[in-house]
Amino acid sequence: MNETGRQVALVTGTSSGMGLHAAVELAGRGLSVVATMRDVSRSDRLDAAAAEAGVQLDVRALDVTDHEAARACVDGVLADHGRIDVLINNAGRGAVGTAEQLGLDEIRDQLEVNYLGPVALTKLVLPTMRAAGSGRVLTVTSVGGAVGQPFADAYCGAKFAVEGFMQSLSTVMLAHGVWVSVIEPAAVASDFVSNVARPAGGAPADAYAVQLEAYLARSAGAFAAAQPARDAGVAIAEAATADEYRFRWQTSDGATAFVGMSLADLDGSRVLGTTRTWIETQA
Ligand SMILES: NC(=O)c1ccc[n+]([C@@H]2O[C@H](COP(=O)([O-])OP(=O)(O)OC[C@H]3O[C@@H](n4cnc5c(N)ncnc54)[C@H](OP(=O)(O)O)[C@@H]3O)[C@@H](O)[C@H]2O)c1
Repeated sequence: MNETGRQVALVTGTSSGMGLHAAVELAGRGLSVVATMRDVSRSDRLDAAAAEAGVQLDVRALDVTDHEAARACVDGVLADHGRIDVLINNAGRGAVGTAEQLGLDEIRDQLEVNYLGPVALTKLVLPTMRAAGSGRVLTVTSVGGAVGQPFADAYCGAKFAVEGFMQSLSTVMLAHGVWVSVIEPAAVASDFVSNVARPAGGAPADAYAVQLEAYLARSAGAFAAAQPARDAGVAIAEAATADEYRFRWQTSDGATAFVGMSLADLDGSRVLGTTRTWIETQA
């Protein structure tokens, strides 16, 4: 059991990038952090960042696409820590390719890691949060969860999907004291680009070559000015510990401006204001 009375946060995808920094930052803010990653033998960067910050983390294995492992992980955290107050669904992966270039398996993989993984973990933590009458579920989506972008069909499709799931859930859970939110970063300097899945092919050889080259050049420019992963991780921790609820967060002003091309409801309050009234009970 948790004898410290500290809040417990479960973070996915902490071997690198903003998940790593969010985990360290949350621990620095006094939470007990369970930092999960697919392969715990790759915890060297997390360990170094935690040591530098002077915090301790409980590092555990979790591949978010393995739903049995996710159940065992949540059960284990509840057994050892007694509670889960915060879930950060951070693990994710991109894929470059337009529809003709993407196999259905690649599209399914995108849904597994960016949609079903967060959805399954959320379902697993909701019972304990609902019983406690409090809790926070934050899913790191992307500006690509609100703005569809060329050669990101499968990735943006999965991020739109998880935003739709979480926004639908948010109104109901708010009445149970559980805050469900999404966090939309723009370009962040992490392992994201090197981890992106590349299409194996399938389209006529050069049908999209010129457009893809232009897109990759534009992307390289965006990533040259990327937000540092630490800053994005701090923004995630701030959202997770904020005193006021909002459904939609961005990690930078650039991300807010970008999402603003597509959305008028930048913090989610307009939609929430409307949909809340649909489930209000008469006193
Ligand atoms: N960087 C960007 O520009 C950007 C922009 C908007 C949104 N995002 C989103 O931000 C989140 C974090 O990405 P990042 O930029 O920090 O990139 P990153 O450095 O590549 O980190 C992604 C993390 O997710 C993990 N991961 C991948 N598949 C997993 C799985 N099946 N189960 C568990 N963990 C898995 C990776 O672990 P392994 O080491 O095991 O692969 C890694 O730790 C992702 O959801 C991403 O889509 C990134």
